[in-house]
Amino acid sequence: MTTKLKTKNSKLKTSANWRKEVESVLITEQQIAWRVKTLAREIERDFRGRETVVVSLLSGTVMFLADLMRHLNLPLRLDFIGVSSYGTGTESGELVFTKELRLDVRGRDVLLVDDILDTGKTLCRVLPKLRALKPRRIKVCVLLDKPDRRVEKIKADYTGFSIPDFFVVGYGLDFAERHRNLPFVGVLHPHIYKQACKHICRK
Ligand code: IMP
Ligand code: MG
Repeated sequence: MTTKLKTKNSKLKTSANWRKEVESVLITEQQIAWRVKTLAREIERDFRGRETVVVSLLSGTVMFLADLMRHLNLPLRLDFIGVSSYGTGTESGELVFTKELRLDVRGRDVLLVDDILDTGKTLCRVLPKLRALKPRRIKVCVLLDKPDRRVEKIKADYTGFSIPDFFVVGYGLDFAERHRNLPFVGVLHPHIYKQACKHICRK
């Protein structure tokens, strides 16, 4: 099940500290907390009785993963894959693996967790690598989905929220490694990434 976002939240004002860079709150802490709990129930139903390995993509998943895991009443193992995109501004660029999986997933059920499904390029690079390790099955769970930006044919099995084409930060998601610590998901002010893009393009 996907929860469609109610746009009225975008009118909420952020606290003064963030207001210059984050123009609005898209998903509140309370909405996230409720949705993460209900997602955990869906996942539990599908994974009950299986040898589960949660594989999380670094680093945008940190908050989502921590909250989701504490609601998952399942025996599970946890490992991480590091993947970085060297792009400019808000566009993803070349993908580089910065940490490989250590746990053996052969014959096990894998829950692959990512922060946001955007163009789909990241998951389309990660999934074949995981499949080559011969897990019994792989299910994909993302906190956010931006379907309007998709260039690859890929869908998540579990989606927290489907959102419009905004560049969002907070609850683990970053812009240039900042804003991960915001407790909500907010829309980055376009002037921030336009500035960054100008700076990068001039170099
Ligand atoms: P994709 O490869 O285009 O699907 O993008 C996936 C990755 O790009 C995510 O895991 C994020 O790290 C990053 N990303 C995409 N959209 C956003 C966004 O709106 N805010 C922050 N990061 C994003
Ligand atoms: Mg990511």
